Amino acid sequence: MKRSIILMGPPGAGKGTLAKKLISLGLVHISTGDMFREAIKAGTALGQLAEQFIKRGDLVPDEVTIGIVKERLSQEDCANGFLLDGFPRTLVQAEALDEITKEIVRPIDVVLNLDCDEKELVRRISGRRVCKVCGAPYHIDTLKPKVDGVCDLCGGPLYQRNDDNEEALKVRLEHYTHQTKPLLEFYQVKGLLHNFNGSLRSEVLFDEIVEFLKS
Ligand code: AP5
Repeated sequence: MKRSIILMGPPGAGKGTLAKKLISLGLVHISTGDMFREAIKAGTALGQLAEQFIKRGDLVPDEVTIGIVKERLSQEDCANGFLLDGFPRTLVQAEALDEITKEIVRPIDVVLNLDCDEKELVRRISGRRVCKVCGAPYHIDTLKPKVDGVCDLCGGPLYQRNDDNEEALKVRLEHYTHQTKPLLEFYQVKGLLHNFNGSLRSEVLFDEIVEFLKS
């Protein structure tokens, strides 16, 4: 099975939702967005720095992001593979990742790209709610919790991310178009890129991707 995976796609394409399902295959989920949000919650120096960028929808500086990913990928649980969600997002990060994977002798097996049209992205992001405790994603229309405002998985309270507003989303989509989308070509040239329809129902998408990873 393909086990060293990069998950790409614009904000709201469903990366986090899919990644949380793929954990069932024994993959280690590494989300830079989640790592920054954890640091913000814990009030660390990293969190204080990252928050300034995230709330505006801007990218956290490359050197900071590369540093945390390098440290995470060198931990023992990544020896059998990892699922990178939200990294790399710039060419500098992609080139740094090439070096890191050489150092840990764990090359990338595949890049999964989730396509989704912009109208649907806006609908998803504006209705997203997230569990404050375990980070599970919900949607006010399409993925409601059993009890309003309460996470089905851990009972934690649901909240709206402070970068899930119209203004920040515009900035995030611009960064995606100009800095992250060009990486699709970078991985296409390496023969690693595989495109999937992120507009599919999440269960259907999950089955399609599991079949692909096992092929
Ligand atoms: P990050 O947390 O990575 O945010 P993102 O890439 O903008 O992606 P999202 O989390 O918004 O969306 P998603 O694709 O995971 O969608 P989800 O599954 O939740 O990054 C946040 C910030 O951190 C960045 O803006 C930046 O500032 C910083 N950062 C992170 N990484 C960085 C890096 N490498 N470099 C620099 N800065 C970095 O789904 C969205 C909604 O849609 C949910 O409500 C869900 O229920 C619903 N949904 C999902 N799938 C489906 C489906 N198939 N059908 C219907 N609804 C669905």
